[in-house]
Amino acid sequence: MKKAGRPLILFVDGPNLNVLGTREPEVYGKMTLADIRREVTLAARREGAVTDFFQSNHEGEIVEKLQEARGRADGLVINPAGYTHTSVAIRDALLYAGIPAVEVHLSNPSSREPFRRTSTIEDVVVGRIAGFGGFGYVLALSALLNHLREAGGVAGR
Ligand code: DQA
Repeated sequence: MKKAGRPLILFVDGPNLNVLGTREPEVYGKMTLADIRREVTLAARREGAVTDFFQSNHEGEIVEKLQEARGRADGLVINPAGYTHTSVAIRDALLYAGIPAVEVHLSNPSSREPFRRTSTIEDVVVGRIAGFGGFGYVLALSALLNHLREAGGVAGR
């Protein structure tokens, strides 16, 4: 862990988030994933954090990334996208990682189809941010860093 230095926050995005910007922009907004990462990187710099970004359309790759994060990342911001509502494997990997996590969604799944109202990770994350488009990732970063400072997970901050 890099507790002595700047906290490392891992951002994990699930399927179809690589096509943000052109994917149902009326639901998910016009920001691309690259736009979101740029905003997050700037915010992280201001807050003294380091970022790592990962996106995959494959459940197993997300599971592997979460396993690798154990003991390496200080915090996690995750949007499992469609897997939010189905994946026991991602929930299990999150528990294995043992890292404070924030669940983020661009849209507000609770105000959409009934099948989007459940999340397999909602009870194992620190908190959830939904409905604020790409800005939700910046909010999640800020909330997570505040949580880590309060929990004493980041030395000297
Ligand atoms: C999403 C919401 C999910 O229901 C959907 O399957 C997604 C994106 C969101 O960010 O709003 O792919 O996670």
